[in-house]
Amino acid sequence: MASPCWRRRALAAACLGSVLLLLGAALRALRPAFESNAVGTSWLGGKRRSPLQTLYDLDQGPRSALAEVHRQRRELLHRACSRHTRRQRLLRPEDLRHVLVDDARGLLYCYVPKVACTNWKRVLLALNGRGSGDPRAIPAPDAHAPGRLPSLADFSPAEVNRRLRTYLAFLFVREPFERLASAYRNKLQRPWGAAFQRRFGTDIVRRLRPHPSPDALARGHDVRFAEFLAYLLDPRTRRDGPLNEHWERAHALCHPCRLRYDVVGKFETLAEDAAFVLGLAGAPGLRFPEPPPGARAAARDRAERLFRDISPFYQRRLFGLYKMDFLLFNYSVPSYLRLR
Ligand SMILES: *[C@@H]1O[C@H](CO)[C@@H](O)[C@H](O)[C@H]1NC(C)=O
Repeated sequence: MASPCWRRRALAAACLGSVLLLLGAALRALRPAFESNAVGTSWLGGKRRSPLQTLYDLDQGPRSALAEVHRQRRELLHRACSRHTRRQRLLRPEDLRHVLVDDARGLLYCYVPKVACTNWKRVLLALNGRGSGDPRAIPAPDAHAPGRLPSLADFSPAEVNRRLRTYLAFLFVREPFERLASAYRNKLQRPWGAAFQRRFGTDIVRRLRPHPSPDALARGHDVRFAEFLAYLLDPRTRRDGPLNEHWERAHALCHPCRLRYDVVGKFETLAEDAAFVLGLAGAPGLRFPEPPPGARAAARDRAERLFRDISPFYQRRLFGLYKMDFLLFNYSVPSYLRLR
């Protein structure tokens, strides 16, 4: 029996339109492919099993503790999706912009900014032989340069569907408020965020500060956290278009209830989860660049300090805005939050 996951993957693929008629064929093609190793023998001339097949094999046999954790996360996501999402619109190609494609390995990675995405882009480039195979040798601007890694949005529906069916899809998520605090600090608070301060900071000051100084209006350099949150909750912000990717909700960037993700990695367990993905990708020797020791605890403390000063009214509304990310990825309500 193919598990429901594999069937859902084919369904998600079918949602992309133009392939509805192929649905039956896709379902039939997928199962025998796994059973007879047909995909395995055709993958890179049969030299290697694809990452998706490797995961499938892991799920069939006695599972390691880590494989079991990932199976449970997938199930939780699946359950949360059926419980909390109603009728959904069809995916459009631009919805796939964040899903990066590695054709050589058979990987799809949906990047969420502020969740080690620079390092993941580096790792994907290194897997393809850039930076002499050492991710740390690749400068950050190179990793982010447009077009370095193709996006799923660049392909035709048929090509998209083929990749969705046969590639291992993964994403990495993070506690939503910690991610938000990190985005604020990185893009609006610190001096290196000058471009973001001019683009968003000046807007926030003009719109929300009663008596702004000319300096603040011109530079947008001194936006307080409370002002940033008020901007996020301001109905005008969403009306102007999607939120910037650094503070947009992970589910709105990656559509985990419509695309099938095989691995849900977490920032909180980055090293183990990255090693799990790299093992599936057939590159267990590649070391995922590690954050400096203590960096995570410091980020958590900073988030807590920032949110503690926010009124319960704003805390509640903000939780409402990010609630789906909490639910889908099994994050509990932070202890410092006053929701009642
Ligand atoms: C969800 O979170 C709870 C509390 O942190 C944890 O005990 C549980 O194992 C998690 N479930 C999954 C599937 O990750």
